[in-house]
Amino acid sequence: MKNIVILISGGGSNMAAIVNTAKRDHWAEKYGARVAAVISNKADAGGLAFAREHGIPTAVLDHKAFASREAFDAALMALIDQHDTPDRPVLLVLAGFMRILTPGFVAHYAGRLTNIHPSLLPAFAGLHTQQRALDAGCKFAGATVHLVTAELDHGPILAQAVVPVLPGDTADTLAARVLTQEHLIYPRAVAQLLQK
Ligand code: GAR
Repeated sequence: MKNIVILISGGGSNMAAIVNTAKRDHWAEKYGARVAAVISNKADAGGLAFAREHGIPTAVLDHKAFASREAFDAALMALIDQHDTPDRPVLLVLAGFMRILTPGFVAHYAGRLTNIHPSLLPAFAGLHTQQRALDAGCKFAGATVHLVTAELDHGPILAQAVVPVLPGDTADTLAARVLTQEHLIYPRAVAQLLQK
């Protein structure tokens, strides 16, 4: 079995989309894959309840309890790697996980670590993406699924979706439009990786 571990910090709607798609599209039978755990760095992340309700083991690892970024990442790695199976290492999926990862962590999961970012990368890496897109007068916005490399919000692009910027849009209305597309492209990109 290929275990997928999903890291979240908040609402977890992308995580939920992946869990729902895995069930609907029979990833266990088709790809021998399942979502084995959802881990959050925040105890109050809304997505944890969804995971529990769907019978997925959850864990909380509070980054504030660690003296350094390296110490947190080492503990996180140990938690994740419990889900390696003898034949297959974990596929690690970042879904709204709002932490900068250390180079050692990223190297450990090289080629099997994905992220979704709410912009058309390489434009607008970092925070406040939709407001920056509005301020720049962009006519289109979107989301990107990519393999994670040491540089923040960079790495080989696996999937993108484009949405129009509409008159009167605020950062919130634009983010909501982008999010509906995220829920389509992220499960699709993960399924493609599982077929490799
Ligand atoms: C999503 O829009 C995701 O693209 C973004 O956070 C949101 C999480 O929503 N991620 C980043 O900004 C990472 N740089 P969710 O918790 O409902 O999936």
